[in-house]
Amino acid sequence: MKELSFIHRFEPALTPDLPPLLLLHGTGGDENDLISLGKMISPGAALLSPRGKVLENGMPRFFRRLAEGVFDEADVKARANELADFIAEAREAYGLQAPVGVGFSNGANIAAALLMLRPEALAGAVLLRAMVPLSEPPKADLAGKGVLMLSGSMDPIIPAENSERLAEFLSESGASVKHTVLPVGHGLSQQDLSLTQNWFLNR
Ligand code: MLT
Repeated sequence: MKELSFIHRFEPALTPDLPPLLLLHGTGGDENDLISLGKMISPGAALLSPRGKVLENGMPRFFRRLAEGVFDEADVKARANELADFIAEAREAYGLQAPVGVGFSNGANIAAALLMLRPEALAGAVLLRAMVPLSEPPKADLAGKGVLMLSGSMDPIIPAENSERLAEFLSESGASVKHTVLPVGHGLSQQDLSLTQNWFLNR
């Protein structure tokens, strides 16, 4: 098979017809990080897990930032397009329907950018600790796409107003958004797991 454009892991579906998951790690993670999470939240689904191409002091990410929470928006746009192209390549190579993006932190932010810039790339998304990736996003048509957003009321990185603004933008674009704010910080909790499992069961 021709080499695909991102280093990645692929786990074929054990249960056909479930949407594949596109797993997007946080800063400093890699393609292995979210595999076990993916298996728990949608058992049997195919898993496609790329490694972010940007390095920040050796730590992989999906786009460059100027400071914590301050993004290089030109890079966000270029990297979202590059990732959408990879998804299209991988769908063809592995015979996949459009995946549901499941991103944590920096991975959630690139998934939000994909929804804004290349909505055809994702069937929906789970955004764990996401923030607004682009200050002036273009209009996108997200009709028919479900988005689960889980934020933390004690998250030191993401102001409540910011994740709220992202949820509003996605609903105004037509996505069916469920945004829950948990009494936790930036890290994932047991509640993230159970709420995400339920969301997949009821999708
Ligand atoms: C980002 O850079 O995408 C956010 O600050 C989250 C993070 O990766 O720490």
